[in-house]
Amino acid sequence: MTANSGIALVDLDEDGVDRAFRADVLAGLRQRQKAIPARWFYDEEGSRLFEEITKVEEYYPTRAETEILTAQGEAFADLIGPGRAVVEFGSGSSVKTPLVLRAIDPAAYVPLDISGDFLRASAAALGEKFPDLDVHPVEADFMRRVRLPDAVAPLKKLGFFPGSTIGNMVPRTAVDLLRSMRATLGADEGERPMLLIGMDLVKDRKVLEAAYDDAKGITARFNANLVTRINRELDGTIPEDALEHRAVWNDTLARIEMHLKATRDIAFEVSGESFSMKQGQTIHTENSHKFTRRSANMLLLAGGWTPVKRWLDSEERFSLILAKSTEQREAP
Ligand code: AVJ
Repeated sequence: MTANSGIALVDLDEDGVDRAFRADVLAGLRQRQKAIPARWFYDEEGSRLFEEITKVEEYYPTRAETEILTAQGEAFADLIGPGRAVVEFGSGSSVKTPLVLRAIDPAAYVPLDISGDFLRASAAALGEKFPDLDVHPVEADFMRRVRLPDAVAPLKKLGFFPGSTIGNMVPRTAVDLLRSMRATLGADEGERPMLLIGMDLVKDRKVLEAAYDDAKGITARFNANLVTRINRELDGTIPEDALEHRAVWNDTLARIEMHLKATRDIAFEVSGESFSMKQGQTIHTENSHKFTRRSANMLLLAGGWTPVKRWLDSEERFSLILAKSTEQREAP
């Protein structure tokens, strides 16, 4: 494995606080409908809790996607081919990655993640599993264009974005991300990059709501951990015992919404600024959009990616889509 810890794009202030985290939380808490972007769930404890969620009975997406990745190795080899640099957006613990790497025999692996410690640990584990593979972890916020390590510049690229993380974004943000992925992967500099992306499917609301409100309460802890993180990192005084976990299907917008709902009137401070919530008021903490074949294709096309192939798991709960960067010249 080739180490590359020289690239870090997380912007910290003099107290070591992530500036973007503070700005997002304060702006979100000032709104009438309080809302904080879901990306801030993933501190070390949040990443660990998410790993736990992937193992609970009700949370099917990880198992369904893993089934597809396991079953379709030969198709990946055919359609993607060897020698690429696999760039994984938000690698987390990289449990699904070996399935792709084994199938396509790439030349390099570039995990991108904002959680640096987690990133380096999982990159090291992967380097051991694939001793001949060049691994270049990059600590970065992949919502923006990322400069890839020089060593992978000449290679053809495959973006890998599993887990239906794209579903956490509202459509216009998702399109921005898909376009910045094209830029990161060098879509305008030669060989057309490919993208392998997981997108969860619309299904019965009971199944969806259970997946985001499991009986063991792991998802509730995952949601509450955001408040713990705000209190710790941003000098917050939010009373954690006065906020309860809510997961509801929004049928109009085809998404699961997670909220933290005040069980009584509360007042608190974050970074020296005062806030209050009435009983019943919520902080909106996550959207998890679900897709149909058509809505998935529309989103990819709007982001500059042409779908090439789509696979489903045996119970047709989850989709994995292979796309190729759209040619500049297309019929209107
Ligand atoms: C990490 C985006 C795939 O939206 O299903 C799981 C996060 N939130 N349970 C999802 C999550 C609550 C998850 N993704």
